[in-house]
Amino acid sequence: MDSDKKTSAAEAQLGLIWENEITPYSATYGDYYFSGNDGSDECRHVFIDGNNLEERLREAKSFTIAELGFGTGLNFLETWRFWQSIRKPGQAMNFTSFERHPLDCASIRRGLGQWPELKQHRDIMLEYWSKRDSGSQTWQIDEQTSLRVIIGEAAFGVNSWAKHADAWYLDGFSPSKNPQMWSEVLMQSVFNHTTQGGTFATYTSAGWVRRNLGSAGFAVRRVPGHGKKRHMTIGSK
Ligand SMILES: C[S@@+](CC[C@H](N)C(=O)[O-])C[C@H]1O[C@@H](n2cnc3c(N)ncnc32)[C@H](O)[C@@H]1O
Repeated sequence: MDSDKKTSAAEAQLGLIWENEITPYSATYGDYYFSGNDGSDECRHVFIDGNNLEERLREAKSFTIAELGFGTGLNFLETWRFWQSIRKPGQAMNFTSFERHPLDCASIRRGLGQWPELKQHRDIMLEYWSKRDSGSQTWQIDEQTSLRVIIGEAAFGVNSWAKHADAWYLDGFSPSKNPQMWSEVLMQSVFNHTTQGGTFATYTSAGWVRRNLGSAGFAVRRVPGHGKKRHMTIGSK
């Protein structure tokens, strides 16, 4: 009951509203969680392909993905499904996400409802999510996949994170509305918590975000974006 109250407070802070009854939108940040019913394809194009995960996941014994902005968990679920389709016995994938305003179960269920193909995975994730407390948690979601969600301000969470990611998904709200998710300090922390040869991908091509990532030390490239977005950004350490 206590944690329900805390989560509702988080949703009030977000000003969560629903476009066409199905797509979550934060009035506070003036942005959508994902682009309409295209969110699933967008995840594949921007984050999975942008980090060249098909090739890299096939080769890795253990692989760590980190994300800024867990939201509904869409990116996690798409990645988990993709991982299940290509992995071999003995390999492991760890997915860590940083989130300041955790959504409650009903909102996650509703936000992901437009993708029936994700239902089974969503329900397993929500089984764990429903038992979470207000702190950060790690769940062994299946025998080769763990999920950790670190609750709180991302700049603080990443800075105190004891691990390094092989691939980053930078998925804050739009940089103009959510600048603290793309700040120089946070991008430096992301770089510092990336393995040598590790990568990032993001849907945005905002110049100042690319500059922050470049000054942090990444080799940054602007590449074709998804759908109506002409460009997105990828990079490597
Ligand atoms: C575009 S949504 C992420 C969508 C998500 N990846 C998904 O698959 O549904 C951006 C997320 O960033 C979170 N966020 C915004 N500012 C934050 C901050 N300063 N620290 C941590 N999380 C933040 C929001 O609560 C929201 O969940």
